[in-house]
Amino acid sequence: MCGIVGYIGKDNAKKVVIDGLAKLEYRGYDSAGIALLDRGNLEIEKIAETEDKKKSKILQLDEMVGDKYKDAKVAIGHTRWATHGAPSVLNAHPHISNDGKVAVVHNGIVENYAELREKLLEKYNIHCKSETDTEVIAQLLSVFCAGGMNPAEAMLEATSMMKGAYAIAAIYEGDETEIVGYRKDAPMIVCHTDEGSFIASDMTAVLKYTKDVYFLEDDEMVICRADSMDIFDRNMNKVQKKAFHVDWSIEAAEKGGYDHFMLKEIHDQPTVLGDTLSRRLTSDGSIKLDGIKLSLEDLNNIDKIYIVACGTAYHAGLIGKHLIEKWAKIPVEVDVASEFRYRDPLVDDRTLFVAVTQSGETLDTLMALREAKSKGARVLSIVNVVGSSIARESDDVFYTWAGPEIAVASTKGYTTQLMCLYLIALHMGLLKGTITDEYAKGIIGELKAVPEKVERLLEKERDIAELAKEIYKKELIFYIGRGLDASVALEGSLKLKEISYINSFAIAAGELKHGTIALMDKDTIVFALATQDELAEKTLSNIVEVAARGAYVVAITKEKNEFFKKESDRVLFIPECFDEVSPLLSIIQLQLIAYFVAKEKGENIDMPRNLAKSVTVE
Ligand code: F6R
Repeated sequence: MCGIVGYIGKDNAKKVVIDGLAKLEYRGYDSAGIALLDRGNLEIEKIAETEDKKKSKILQLDEMVGDKYKDAKVAIGHTRWATHGAPSVLNAHPHISNDGKVAVVHNGIVENYAELREKLLEKYNIHCKSETDTEVIAQLLSVFCAGGMNPAEAMLEATSMMKGAYAIAAIYEGDETEIVGYRKDAPMIVCHTDEGSFIASDMTAVLKYTKDVYFLEDDEMVICRADSMDIFDRNMNKVQKKAFHVDWSIEAAEKGGYDHFMLKEIHDQPTVLGDTLSRRLTSDGSIKLDGIKLSLEDLNNIDKIYIVACGTAYHAGLIGKHLIEKWAKIPVEVDVASEFRYRDPLVDDRTLFVAVTQSGETLDTLMALREAKSKGARVLSIVNVVGSSIARESDDVFYTWAGPEIAVASTKGYTTQLMCLYLIALHMGLLKGTITDEYAKGIIGELKAVPEKVERLLEKERDIAELAKEIYKKELIFYIGRGLDASVALEGSLKLKEISYINSFAIAAGELKHGTIALMDKDTIVFALATQDELAEKTLSNIVEVAARGAYVVAITKEKNEFFKKESDRVLFIPECFDEVSPLLSIIQLQLIAYFVAKEKGENIDMPRNLAKSVTVE
């Protein structure tokens, strides 16, 4: 989704903002731009369609601007992920008012922009030039300033008329003293250092300067100056905030010698899974959950758990349901956030709402959380980004500690979410007495062995790269499995389609014969997951059925299941493990398959088309 960076201070503002935008590229964008105050003059440069498709647009924007404006000390920049109007220079941000006095960057959607456009036309004879919702903000700010308001007053006035979600930064011609920012339902961080003040959509843009950032809350406004920074509420009262310290290193947000962030993040998994687990184990090996205050009494007051999330995080939630129901014997429903929030779910004060999210900013998940909270539910979130909106609005927060995830396709985000769900489910089971200490120790022993087993799988990635060469031209790929494998199949299929654009879908193996098997023929590839001991033979029967229809079958099973070789064209083995923890291993194979197939196809792996890393609009 769109990314915002703003800087005011003693450094070269163009450089600071362009560097920051480069760090936000991972969020996904199709055009970009920067507005600067050069000796008080408002200058704007934008880029959309480019000749060189392989080269980053931010790099091309940088080259386009070249040495111009190197004395500018104030700038705002933007990466746009088109919503209203096609990607074009006209629609790219920053948007400037018709009188050339105000430049604005915006993330989110102004839902009533059509009505505001009409108002601007009727009342002030102002025609908007672009197709965007954002331009109305620039026009409104300039109208209010022309009417005598100062920039902060104009921002409050304009936002009082706007509906929707927005993070905004604005600068004014002739005023090199401040940048004004505003947030409602869209992420915005701010910080101040000796170099000056910064505004950004997320902390990766400012990691180079500081690890202490402030998160704006809804309806807060920031005024950034070179030597200070103040946050206000809508009544212009100053808001005192605590800075969030983020212990992400700059290197963690770099490729570290890998061809792609996705491959690097796949390889990060042994380390981050080890960290996520070890931070929650005491020296005697028992579980100590930071951030979760749920007591036995609290659990006894819960009739039902909803796990709500989107995409990959939703797939993690499906595994979580299985674990919590099995170990803690509490009924769990899993829902995608965009459905949950609009279906008047049966939630009350005896409901525990669990949000799972890497970014902590996914708008649908955030709105679902607010919906559940308003109905009295207690909210626990499993989040990667420290201090993100969902983390801040939850009663209990359990961080995944995956470090920055830059590739759009989530890998370590997913596996660390799973690790957290294992720990929470065990914790609940132990509290309720529905599992014994001994049983939990057995599972913890298995979880501790996961990082080394993942290493072993990664050492064999060449085999998967070879397999990718055989299948990358196929047009239809299925993922099947039973029990936990059915949920992993969904995630494997999503990984493949989002970065390789191959049509793929996942189905519970037992459901095949109720319709979908009609699609099987000699051109179909089937990845069949069979890691659950009790279900392996049943999945084997499904393999036989699809193979009989000509499908090429790649089975994924445990090392001991040599017999799968007979019925499958290929077998990818995972190390021996308890059935419950196999998702942490089998998904590694599927992540690698998606990666190498996309690589073989020459796709833009880290930034796939049409996708954004952090989905901050509906
Ligand atoms: C897929 C992927 C998405 C996200 C989804 C939710 O690889 O990354 O499906 O999982 O957009 O994002 P978060 O976890 O940030 O709420």
